[in-house]
Amino acid sequence: MRLKYLPSFVKRRGRITKKQEENIEELINFSVSSINDIESESNGFKSIVIEIGFGDGENILTIAKENPDTLYIGSEVYLSGIGSLIGKIKENNLSNIRIYNNDARVLLDTIKTPIFDNMLIICPDPWQKARHHKRRLINHSFLELARKSLKENGGLYISTDWKDYAEGILEAINQAEGYIVLETQLFEDLPVTRFQARAIKEDREIFKFNLKKAN
Ligand SMILES: C[S@@+](CC[C@H](N)C(=O)[O-])C[C@H]1O[C@@H](n2cnc3c(N)ncnc32)[C@H](O)[C@@H]1O
Repeated sequence: MRLKYLPSFVKRRGRITKKQEENIEELINFSVSSINDIESESNGFKSIVIEIGFGDGENILTIAKENPDTLYIGSEVYLSGIGSLIGKIKENNLSNIRIYNNDARVLLDTIKTPIFDNMLIICPDPWQKARHHKRRLINHSFLELARKSLKENGGLYISTDWKDYAEGILEAINQAEGYIVLETQLFEDLPVTRFQARAIKEDREIFKFNLKKAN
């Protein structure tokens, strides 16, 4: 079967600790696998936010702790990160995070009615070699897909720590329709993620894009 999307990730297990392995066995209790699942889990929440590629979960955990009225959907394929996040959800007794363990585009592709209030993507895989650029998550067709899933005035936050990816993202934004580029930050005080920490250590700038879906 031909995949609709070129993988934007390297499907790696990572080194999985015993604790993470045990947590992954409980994934079913924390997971959603469709928009219907998300809709039925959203009862009682004021808004729904998705983070694509949460890695080890530092960011989604922090914002979910600060906003208990918001339901957070974390999309990730990296099993060790999923195990870590489940551990953190349990330690912090959180009831507002659900995990979508698959390519986020598969989920977004099924959306008929906008559902998300905000979307965050922090340090998408850079795919640095020119011949791999086509695997980059953020491009014109992704921005289209994301826009269809966002409610009116919904926010899209993207950051990357690679300059040439930032240039590509900017080009895709300039060609995209239906977004307003904000001068202000959509989210104040987001934590530094593992990949951002590495960029800072290596003296690389972090580029941030704050967009809003136009009405
Ligand atoms: C470079 S890491 C960044 C992780 C984290 N956001 C951080 O800043 O530390 C990118 C992550 O995005 C995930 N990813 C890439 N493409 C994805 C997709 N289409 N759907 C869901 N997750 C994806 C990868 O598995 C990987 O864990």
